[in-house]
Amino acid sequence: MRRVVVAVTGASGVVYGLRLLESLRSINDVEVHLVVSKSASKVLQHELGLSIDDLVKLAHRTYDEGELDAPIASGSFNFQAMAIAPCSMKTLAAIAHGYTSNLITRAADVALKERRRLVLLIREAPYSLIHIRNMELVTQAGAIVMPASPPFYGKPRTIDDLINAVVGRVMALMGIENNIYPVWGG
Ligand SMILES: Cc1cc2nc3c(=O)[nH]c(=O)nc-3n(C[C@H](O)[C@H](O)[C@H](O)COP(=O)(O)O)c2cc1C
Repeated sequence: MRRVVVAVTGASGVVYGLRLLESLRSINDVEVHLVVSKSASKVLQHELGLSIDDLVKLAHRTYDEGELDAPIASGSFNFQAMAIAPCSMKTLAAIAHGYTSNLITRAADVALKERRRLVLLIREAPYSLIHIRNMELVTQAGAIVMPASPPFYGKPRTIDDLINAVVGRVMALMGIENNIYPVWGG
């Protein structure tokens, strides 16, 4: 089994987190460990009319953001990759500064110190210099900052196409094969 950690934070675009969980669910040998922040629960309700239970059923294990004694909080618990989708500027700031006050930022800190793949699907517009500096810091520490901006070269017809293009790219960055990402064929 390949283990991955997925976190959903309270930025706009929680649908990206939902689609990522749905797509990972369809792959047999991937075990998903999920953390949903308190703010994400509110955005989930606001943007999709969903509750945290709708995400929980798509993961193998789910932890509360305050559960700092969860397995994923320790470097000895191996996981292949972690993605935060979407990633708020608050969570980005906490990761950039090693401020690991909740399980999401702690697991991200573990991913960085253990040199594992960490993908941050950030969402904010526009960016302040603080956001940009935090992106620089996490990039220098080994994380991949992935903007939640869909490409249009695949000629998307629906919002679903746009979501899939972003999520497929996130999965590829996590090292998980998938066929929802339109690869540019020239
Ligand atoms: C509807 C809604 C949309 C939001 N969108 C964003 C966003 O796109 N980016 C962002 O950084 N914060 C956004 N926020 C603010 C975050 O939810 C807030 O900073 C929160 O503290 C993030 O906490 P978390 O990272 O622990 O989930 C939004 C809040 C709400 C209620």
